[in-house]
Amino acid sequence: MTQPITIAVPKGRVLKSLARRFARAGVEPSVLLDDDRRLVRTSHDGGVRFLLLKPDDVPTYVEYGAADLGVVGRDVLLEREYDLYVPLDLGIGRCKMSVCGLAGKPPSTDQLRPLRVATKFVNIATRYYREQRRQVEVIYVGGSVELAPITGLADVIVDLVETGETLRQNGLEVFEDVADISSVVIANIAAFKLAREPIRRLLAALAEDSPAS
Ligand code: PRP
Repeated sequence: MTQPITIAVPKGRVLKSLARRFARAGVEPSVLLDDDRRLVRTSHDGGVRFLLLKPDDVPTYVEYGAADLGVVGRDVLLEREYDLYVPLDLGIGRCKMSVCGLAGKPPSTDQLRPLRVATKFVNIATRYYREQRRQVEVIYVGGSVELAPITGLADVIVDLVETGETLRQNGLEVFEDVADISSVVIANIAAFKLAREPIRRLLAALAEDSPAS
């Protein structure tokens, strides 16, 4: 029997669309969607083995070869550099990286101190403001970043916006868009160069009508 293809996938909201996409490659959606605590899930025919990970850890498993392929949001790849191939944009998990703050109160551009920016994406935010030649102080926060402008910790946040519901419910709005984000397939360089036939077939099946979910 041939070795299964190991694929690192992020736990969370993209799994549903991902399960639909993998169904085209013959993988039963229940493998990804079963609501249990198993972190390794193998397709019924044994051809694909999924590792369920925190999104930030997906590229690490692929870079070091613990997984052949992975699925991850572009935000993770924009935030840190990895030695990987990115053979396919799946066009799912679409959202934007945006600068947001209190609704109706964009920070004044002539304030004397540097703009304070709270974010989990320190490198993306730093790069964005450097390109704009704007002086900022970037403050790292790990989550619930919407609280930063509400409490006065920061003037604005740089964060992912999908439906906009989190912003709306917390009285915030988008001021500027930084980048378009979607989920991409990443590949371990050695595994991709060898390009075993099953990996090639899987990528072709995932690519069909890529922009749709
Ligand atoms: C992300 C992001 C926002 C929210 C935006 O957090 O940080 O808080 O989603 O989505 P919306 O526009 O559809 O409301 P996520 O739920 O992924 O959790 P996290 O804060 O733990 O990263």
